Amino acid sequence: MELGSPLEMIQLLQTPWEERFKICLSLVKLLFYLAHSPLGSIALLDFQPRQFVMVDGNLKVTDMDDASIEERLCREDNDCTLDFPAKSFILNCTTAGKCEDLNEKKNLFNAYRYFFTYLLPHTAPTALRPFLGDILNTTGDLRYGINETLGAFEKVLHLYKLGLYLQKRHHLLKEYITLKGFRTMEVQDYKCWLSYSHLGCVLSIHNTEDAAAMCNSQPQCQSFIVMQERTWTGRQLASFRSSLTDLIPDVNSAVYIKRSATSRERL
Ligand SMILES: *[C@@H]1O[C@H](CO)[C@@H](O)[C@H](O)[C@H]1NC(C)=O
Ligand SMILES: *[C@@H]1O[C@H](CO)[C@@H](O)[C@H](O)[C@H]1NC(C)=O
Ligand SMILES: *[C@@H]1O[C@H](CO)[C@@H](O)[C@H](O)[C@H]1NC(C)=O
Repeated sequence: MELGSPLEMIQLLQTPWEERFKICLSLVKLLFYLAHSPLGSIALLDFQPRQFVMVDGNLKVTDMDDASIEERLCREDNDCTLDFPAKSFILNCTTAGKCEDLNEKKNLFNAYRYFFTYLLPHTAPTALRPFLGDILNTTGDLRYGINETLGAFEKVLHLYKLGLYLQKRHHLLKEYITLKGFRTMEVQDYKCWLSYSHLGCVLSIHNTEDAAAMCNSQPQCQSFIVMQERTWTGRQLASFRSSLTDLIPDVNSAVYIKRSATSRERL
């Protein structure tokens, strides 16, 4: 039994894409483990989201009683049908008389229909969408096994961490004045979709140039503060602000203020 917070799909759709990707990745790692477990390939019988809990942003199964290590026996391929409400598959019957990878494929299709379709594409970075589309397509048709699926997830993570998905940017940062070694008070400010904080607009950024582009795309944004906190992928968090409050010395932070905002204040 794992204790943790129960999975709320609606709530998850309001969390940043990076956190939803983490949940899907931890599910894939779990299924990889189950497919190659010392007991043999294990199928989870009940795949409803309520069977899972979150522990530190990772997905865990609450109850391993609802699992089966039995591999279905067969004489021909038609004995190896895998039926789901909207789809069915016929797997191979091996010469040893077992349905090939049946437990692994059953888990994978359930992961696709209960998790990936909802959590992966929603608000994903544009340049990563083709890769996520491939994952949805290959798992939805059961063309990939769990090994290739894990490989595909790790590739997306790699692209995301390196920022390889970012479009070429113009030099937007030069429109900002940099104050290194400062931050501002945490105050209530404008909110944005999928914020890490309910007080204001806090998002994960790849670098300050990326943050400048995000600030420019938000009409209220006049400045941003790059904070010390990092997300699980190692990206920094930035707090986007509509107004500038008192500066506080902080060696671990930097404040970036739009030049246009400072000239307006002087007038
Ligand atoms: C069944 O086996 C054939 C021949 O090895 C292979 O080409 C095919 O992809 C297998 N089908 C499934 C569903 O694994
Ligand atoms: C995967 O892509 C193929 C070809 O574009 C399409 O026919 C199929 O319906 C897709 N499958 C899923 C599950 O999206
Ligand atoms: C999947 O990975 C496991 C562990 O690395 C390995 O033992 C197994 O042979 C791989 N299976 C396939 C089909 O590549």
